[in-house]
Amino acid sequence: MSSPSAALQSRIAVLGAGEVGSTIAYTLLANPIASEVLLVDPKEQVRDAQVQDLSDSTYHGNTSSLIRAGTHKEAGQCDIVVVTAGAAQKQGESRTDLVGRNQAILQSAIGDMKPFKDTTILLLIANPVDILTYFALQYSGLPAHQVLGTGTFLDSARLRGALALRAGVTASSLNAYVLGEHGDSQFPAWSCANISGIPLPKFPGLEALDQDSLADETKQKAGSIVESKGATAFGIASVTASICKSILFDERIIRAVSHYQDDLKVCLSKPLVLGRKGVVQTVDLPLDKREREALTESAKSLREIIEQAEK
Ligand code: LAC
Repeated sequence: MSSPSAALQSRIAVLGAGEVGSTIAYTLLANPIASEVLLVDPKEQVRDAQVQDLSDSTYHGNTSSLIRAGTHKEAGQCDIVVVTAGAAQKQGESRTDLVGRNQAILQSAIGDMKPFKDTTILLLIANPVDILTYFALQYSGLPAHQVLGTGTFLDSARLRGALALRAGVTASSLNAYVLGEHGDSQFPAWSCANISGIPLPKFPGLEALDQDSLADETKQKAGSIVESKGATAFGIASVTASICKSILFDERIIRAVSHYQDDLKVCLSKPLVLGRKGVVQTVDLPLDKREREALTESAKSLREIIEQAEK
């Protein structure tokens, strides 16, 4: 395992100085996870103002991390590149409505970052995250274990949070994953979910759980936040920081994260072990028949979007 001091000599670049990118930069600085965070955005005025504001959060002895503006070329030499650049979901839009716009932005950003350092890990945040993770793999030429998307890590956290409230336990005591697309075809792997090894329907407080409506609530949560405040930022920033930490400190946490599936020819989320090389190992949950079918369906709908985008 890497030592914390090795991780603290690491650099993370954040592409995109908008609300999501700057919230992620703030979260990375506050933890702190890397020695330096580079904010990269062609809109120099916004980028520099965000760097000024973020730097003010680092001057009172609370962090050893530094923030500065960076170029795409410098980002390509960082340990992790967090890609938030792209149009954000607007009220009434689905994540997949953003494909064309964000695919073009991604292709140009990756072109500007190349050549990458051999060990650089690309972490996609921009939506539709599974589709963009797939294209990031194509455009970058990096090995598949180095190209990830935040995927359903956040949906799984939302599900765990809702279950934890009902069960009266902390969310980290729950094993529950949302799998597939970070979008409409996602589904919770209920058959494998448990609290301390106890299946959910047997746990006090969860006997009458309506699984379908909770799955739906989880799926709709981002949309309802976007409708009321225009964007989501804190949840995704915290998830991003957690992934970066597990990578740089070689922590090997297991989370559902989007990555390339050889058998399905798409990127979607299944649990995997996150460490210094990115995907250290994939974890095959013993899904039931309905869940296996849901995963195939989710892959099919992602494949259709990819084929449309490739035309
Ligand atoms: C969300 C965005 C990151 O689910 O898609 O909050």
